[in-house]
Amino acid sequence: MKKIKKMNDVILKISFGNFSNPVNIVKNVAIKANCDFEAVEEGEDVVFVSNGEELARLEKLSSENGKTWARFNSSSAHFFGFGEKMGFLDKRGRNMKMMNMDNPLHTPDLDPMYVSIPFFIVLSPKKPAMGFYVNSTSRSFFNMEGDSYTLGVEDDGIEFYAIYGPTVADVIKHFTAVVGRISMPPAWALGYQQSRWSYATAQEALDVSHKMRQDGIPCDVIYLDIDYMKGYRVFTWGDRFNDPKKFVDEMKKSGFKVVVIMDPGVKEEDGYEVYESGKAINAFAKSKSGNNFTGYVWPGKCVFPDFLRSDVRNWWALQHKSLFEAGVDGIWNDMNEPSIVWTDTNTQELKNLLSSDEPMDFTLLEKLKEFTFQKDHAYEITHMDDSNKKWPHLKVRNVYALLEAMATTKAFEIYRPNKRPFILSRAGFAGIQKYAAVWTGDNSSWWEHLKTEMPISMGLGLSGVSFCGTDVGGFGGNATAELLVRWMEIGTFFPFFRNHSAIGTRNQEPWAFGENVEKILKKYIKMRYELFPYLYTLFFQSYKSGTPIMRPLFMYDQSDENLYNLNDEFMVGNSMIVAPVTEPNVTWRPVYLPKGEWIDVRNGEKYDGKKVYKIDAPLDEIPVFVKEDSIISKTDSMNYFFEKEKMMLYLDFYGQRASTQVYEDDGETLNYKKGIYNLYQVSVESESAIYNVSVKALHKEYEGRYKKAVISFMTLKELKSSTVRINGEMIKPYFENGILKVVFDLEVL
Ligand code: GLC
Repeated sequence: MKKIKKMNDVILKISFGNFSNPVNIVKNVAIKANCDFEAVEEGEDVVFVSNGEELARLEKLSSENGKTWARFNSSSAHFFGFGEKMGFLDKRGRNMKMMNMDNPLHTPDLDPMYVSIPFFIVLSPKKPAMGFYVNSTSRSFFNMEGDSYTLGVEDDGIEFYAIYGPTVADVIKHFTAVVGRISMPPAWALGYQQSRWSYATAQEALDVSHKMRQDGIPCDVIYLDIDYMKGYRVFTWGDRFNDPKKFVDEMKKSGFKVVVIMDPGVKEEDGYEVYESGKAINAFAKSKSGNNFTGYVWPGKCVFPDFLRSDVRNWWALQHKSLFEAGVDGIWNDMNEPSIVWTDTNTQELKNLLSSDEPMDFTLLEKLKEFTFQKDHAYEITHMDDSNKKWPHLKVRNVYALLEAMATTKAFEIYRPNKRPFILSRAGFAGIQKYAAVWTGDNSSWWEHLKTEMPISMGLGLSGVSFCGTDVGGFGGNATAELLVRWMEIGTFFPFFRNHSAIGTRNQEPWAFGENVEKILKKYIKMRYELFPYLYTLFFQSYKSGTPIMRPLFMYDQSDENLYNLNDEFMVGNSMIVAPVTEPNVTWRPVYLPKGEWIDVRNGEKYDGKKVYKIDAPLDEIPVFVKEDSIISKTDSMNYFFEKEKMMLYLDFYGQRASTQVYEDDGETLNYKKGIYNLYQVSVESESAIYNVSVKALHKEYEGRYKKAVISFMTLKELKSSTVRINGEMIKPYFENGILKVVFDLEVL
């Protein structure tokens, strides 16, 4: 029997049959909204209705052979979200699976990927948006192929949440109220970050950091990939980093943070402290036989922490001591699907398969393919929860990385109290954003991947993971100078901005392709730092309401169907459109602009919305448009955050009237949670050729780095002086490069 329960004004919970999850990740929240969202039973059907209008129709619930299905009528709706998926934004016509999987060859049809978020948004141009979240950690299925769509879970029952909008942003806000939102990251995590598999000696990593400073390239973080360890044993430092504290101190001297990689596999080796201490508390997941499950990863034969148990998470947290004592600032959780290259059992099975006398047939071929490509050898694992209940891996796998991220967060609490954690995770589940930023894993230095990273990252953002990004320049394969330039241009505007590449591939540090290329890349990295106030305020908004930082254009106007499958443009916040070039030898592109008027920031040219334009984009330029009547907040570029104690706040004002907010806090502690931050509201109104600027502190509890602000009237070049008032007072403006500006004190507010 199905049950329908109203959770609050905007969320309905539907359950059917017997389902179970090893962890509860949803929070029951009270949400008040002025809407009329309900589930109406019509015979067998359940109709999701708002103000009498049908938004979705559940036609059938059925359970058979350990699988449960919910079938909906799809009419003409479009579907967005689904976490991390290859392909285009609109998932209508797709058949997808949720099962955390490491498959480094990101072909267009690859599914599933590292992250599973069983959530999507249903959108039609003339209707309010709504969403569905399937609350199951099991393997789940989303068949959006035909006139009906089907959600399935590998369980004897299903529970899902129907979530009302009416806007797309509202759906995400309500969904993230239930599964969690990002916290404010440390400010440096918004900076440019340099990685490579691997900077394998302390000297090599230091050389990279010195070169950044020598060439004046802003950069905040250097990553250490697996080679910093002793024979890939987690929580150890190898001989090439024989004095890790000295190394990290040296990095800190020039303003760098060090982030180190962490894999869940613990080498099975007597005498190895991490293995021994884990064994002492029986910390490792079991195989069906009851012995520790073993599988092969970088260090050889490994055991795997059973993160489902809270004492194991505590033990794992404590292991981070040697890393935090050395002074590292962030942890990069990789291989956490978990990815296991092979196991003894499956090697035996493979041997059996190959030595069988049966002729090669389709089934055998399929099985061989599973072994080579699927890498889901971990299904033999069993887990145990805090009440000693056993769980099959299939129900835990999708939350394994989430649980590991919880353990890592705990490590930060223990070893760096009152400092913000920075965790970067490859795998994840709904709510991973509460603990970690996510990058899209092992892409390749292909133009196709440059293009596809936009819809993938937008999909993550729509699913709550607003702090996300990609391996800029591409991980596998060899980047070319042109590809790297285009990728760095686009990376400047992604929430997470890290250049990373695989072992054995061509180097892609900013100087790798000579001076001319370096000059362009430096320009964009600097631009990233200049945009800090704008980006950081978006992070604050995301922390408050889950809103993606990088977002599809339909979030700006969900009634414009032209925007539903616009995959190669994106918005940063609500005032900026980025339209990158993602093909070689191309120096212009068509750009569709949505309703309103838009200004090309490069030359001030104005464009009417709802039209397509041919826009020039030579190699050293990326087209960026800002909305007429908007304010973009900026600061001076710097080598790293916060190199300078005092910062200027620049408010670039476009149009006739606009308002914006600017957020600031100390960028490193958790004091913002106690209200120690500033939030400014800046508005500009024009009244018979006088511009009235109002600057208010909506909240002012933090001492503040922005002491002074400059407003630039970007599009009002004909303005005479003596026409600007700030908070009622006439201010003497000045011209700089032909642009009228006024400067004012923020400290007096
Ligand atoms: C995985 C990660 C990649 C890392 C490599 C070596 O492939 O996705 O980022 O460099 O492992 O640790």
